[in-house]
Amino acid sequence: MELPARPELFDFHGVSMTHYFTDNWENIQNFQARPDDILLTSYPKAGNTWVSYILDLLHFGQTLPERQTSIPIYARVPTLEITFPSLQPGTELIDKLTTSPRLIKSHLPVQFVPKSIWEKNCKIVYVARNAKDSMVSYFQFERMTKIHPEPGDWSSYFQRFMEGKMVFGSWYDHVNGWWKKKQTYPNIHYMFYEDLIEDTGREIDKLCCFLGLSLSAEEKERIRGEVQFDKMKNNNMVNLSTFRGMDFKISSFIRKGKVGDWKNHYTVAQSEEFNEDYMKKMKDPTLQFRTQIC
Ligand code: A3P
Repeated sequence: MELPARPELFDFHGVSMTHYFTDNWENIQNFQARPDDILLTSYPKAGNTWVSYILDLLHFGQTLPERQTSIPIYARVPTLEITFPSLQPGTELIDKLTTSPRLIKSHLPVQFVPKSIWEKNCKIVYVARNAKDSMVSYFQFERMTKIHPEPGDWSSYFQRFMEGKMVFGSWYDHVNGWWKKKQTYPNIHYMFYEDLIEDTGREIDKLCCFLGLSLSAEEKERIRGEVQFDKMKNNNMVNLSTFRGMDFKISSFIRKGKVGDWKNHYTVAQSEEFNEDYMKKMKDPTLQFRTQIC
């Protein structure tokens, strides 16, 4: 089946979106959560798939090992807001999940999360990644992903990212909105892509603690090995090679997996312009990102 034309961005309650993530809005807002549902949220390109796989292995790696080799990650951890031609909407995929807990992926900014998630006090894992690398990763992703708007050239993309005219809106609003929510809703584990790169085992331990899981040291070490970049890149059940909305001749979904790849894309002038703008937008001193790790 031929893919439809790339979608246009439009303003949706103050956030740039495309119809693939708003068409099913009523069902998304009326989504009925269960108390043990786990919501995994992030701005796009923060490492959501990486953490999806970690969560799936932590919960089902031992009890349902066949799931890892037979069901693609986007079906194991469905995206709440997606509606894609010829696929069931995310809400329906989630309703059909037979596992407990249900692992649910989302990129929604905090103000769009269905009421029921808060009412049921669901556990939420939020993954954040520094803006400079997120921008580069998002640019490469939109080049290859036909269900996203045409990214245009790098310099116009750079400006548009700073203006927040991206699918799921402004990176700055997204990471800040979720950070602020953590102050009033303690059931959020806010984690960073850079920390995962630095010490995946330590971050797996923190996740286990948050989720109340007690796995053996051997099992955690096995999971750490499974989710390494090269392993995931070559694993067809997690590298999205079975998702037909992407053109793998243009780029890869699991592409570089580095902190600091932005240096290969930003000019010196762009980096300075970005930093100046960043200082104006990121006022909360308690929320700090690393654009490189030593
Ligand atoms: P790059 O494009 O910078 O390589 P998401 O899943 O939220 O869309 O995030 C995708 C980003 O996470 C991509 O970044 C991808 O390569 C990176 N990623 C996925 N799995 C990873 C892993 N095991 N280790 C490091 N980075 C990973």
